[in-house]
Amino acid sequence: MVGDLESKLFAVLFLLSTAQAGNTGRLSGHRCADFQTANILRGSKLKVQFLLFTSSSPSCGELILADDDIKKSSFNSSLETKIIIHGFRALGTKPSWIEGLVHAILHTSQVNVIAVDWVYGSTGAYPSAVENVTQLALSISQFISKLLALGVSGTSIHIIGVSLGAHVGGLVGHFHGGQLGRITGLDPAGPKYTRASPEERLDPGDALFVEAIHTDADNFGIRIPVGHIDYFVNGGKDQPGCPRFISAGYKYLICDHMRAVHLYVSALKHSCPILAFPCASHQDFLNGHCVDCVDPFLFSCPRIGLLEQAGVEMRKLPKEVKVYLMTSTSAPFCVHHSLVEFQLQTKRNVVTSIEITFCSNSTNDSAKITIPKLQVMGKQLLAHRVPLCQINSVTLKYLPKNKFWRKDESSIVGKFCAAQLPLDSNRTMSCLPWNITLPGNTNVSYELPATCA
Ligand SMILES: *[C@@H]1O[C@H](CO)[C@@H](O)[C@H](O)[C@H]1NC(C)=O
Ligand SMILES: *[C@@H]1O[C@H](CO)[C@@H](O)[C@H](O)[C@H]1NC(C)=O
Ligand SMILES: *[C@@H]1O[C@H](CO)[C@@H](O)[C@H](O)[C@H]1NC(C)=O
Ligand SMILES: *[C@@H]1O[C@H](CO)[C@@H](O)[C@H](O)[C@H]1NC(C)=O
Ligand SMILES: *[C@@H]1O[C@H](CO)[C@@H](O)[C@H](O)[C@H]1NC(C)=O
Ligand SMILES: *[C@@H]1O[C@H](CO)[C@@H](O)[C@H](O)[C@H]1NC(C)=O
Ligand SMILES: *[C@@H]1O[C@H](CO)[C@@H](O)[C@H](O)[C@H]1NC(C)=O
Repeated sequence: MVGDLESKLFAVLFLLSTAQAGNTGRLSGHRCADFQTANILRGSKLKVQFLLFTSSSPSCGELILADDDIKKSSFNSSLETKIIIHGFRALGTKPSWIEGLVHAILHTSQVNVIAVDWVYGSTGAYPSAVENVTQLALSISQFISKLLALGVSGTSIHIIGVSLGAHVGGLVGHFHGGQLGRITGLDPAGPKYTRASPEERLDPGDALFVEAIHTDADNFGIRIPVGHIDYFVNGGKDQPGCPRFISAGYKYLICDHMRAVHLYVSALKHSCPILAFPCASHQDFLNGHCVDCVDPFLFSCPRIGLLEQAGVEMRKLPKEVKVYLMTSTSAPFCVHHSLVEFQLQTKRNVVTSIEITFCSNSTNDSAKITIPKLQVMGKQLLAHRVPLCQINSVTLKYLPKNKFWRKDESSIVGKFCAAQLPLDSNRTMSCLPWNITLPGNTNVSYELPATCA
């Protein structure tokens, strides 16, 4: 019965689509193709499928059979091509994020989007999915060779690989001599790859520009840099807004790992810039030691998204540069980073802690400045959701360290300054224009003298 109904529906859809296609005839007889579903028992063949999505039909996949003539499809060889490769699929199902990513790409740019469906080869156990990677990479390479034969330029090809798919992208790039345009790895897989040789995993030699977004480096993601630019989001390990306890089940397991995909999709859909800053470590970044992009990027900070070379204007990019950024807990994830500083009038014998809160009409965002004992200066990065110039007031709270054998000073005096990153050599900090007194455990609010540029 159901099958009957389905075939009737298809007949109706077929008539509608031929009617609409009119005299262009391009889509006549074509119905939307989708990912396959593999169950574990049947998952012993790769059965790679290439699904084409274009701006004129972002929701309707067009199946391009490996031996089919691509010329007959709506593939437009004068446009750039994005190839999406998913990773391990435990249950052999279509990745839930595919549609969102395809739509986000086609929302921003007129390109050919090819989603590679290797659901069959990616299911079952993770090690067997890994074993299939080389053969998969070969099929994708053959597919790309056909595109090149049509006159498509290698530099116009951009592979976006998720998890294991990032290393597949690396292999494909390797097979093409590192001459494809770009590879983006979204939390490239860690297990079985951290100690692999660069030939076996994604590495900066695999394309003219290779970037990776790391969000779960302590679990499913890889902890080493694998591109020209490696974004370590919130340090690259644990993401804000993700459950921290196993009781949250599946969501706990994959939330950090999948954040790279959600962040990327969000960066394509929203205009707020997601910038990152080169630094030696996340701790150094948080401590305010990395406030610009002068070294090594000559002033242009990398931005997550589709800008050419991530917006870094350099002829030859250095390799494996680790860049750091913070995000908010949910989409659109972008925050502004400000350096906040407090300089004590006189140094103290104990560590000094001051809580700083930026308040706008709709947000309160905080960070804690710690001034080491016998020093006068404390620095910290504060992530805030509205630009500094929209911050109405800053609240400072001195947190005395009262121990039962010694009472800390009841107040401190010093100078407070803040500046939004990137803090290039000519940018000056906005300071509260006097030496302020902060009584213990009391909120003191000031207007911040920062104006929008
Ligand atoms: C291919 O894309 C180019 C550039 O956008 C456009 O001018 C051309 O009409 C497209 N060709 C087809 C067949 O859609
Ligand atoms: C994928 O790997 C599994 C496990 O090694 C193997 O059984 C299967 O044949 C592979 N599939 C292909 C198409 O090579
Ligand atoms: C602020 O403190 C510094 C350091 O003690 C001092 O040199 C300066 O004169 C003070 N400024 C004001 C306005 O009190
Ligand atoms: C914040 O609220 C005040 C008073 O309601 C208003 O005048 C101001 O424009 C608001 N600022 C922003 C950035 O929305
Ligand atoms: C921010 O904090 C202040 C002081 O605690 C509070 O009055 C205000 O409602 C908060 N605003 C938001 C948007 O949470
Ligand atoms: C610094 O200021 C000079 C002169 O105003 C300007 O030419 C230069 O571009 C500025 N540098 C940066 C990084 O903004
Ligand atoms: C101080 O400000 C913070 C942040 O706005 C707020 O959470 C806290 O409740 C305030 N504390 C007091 C004692 O007002």
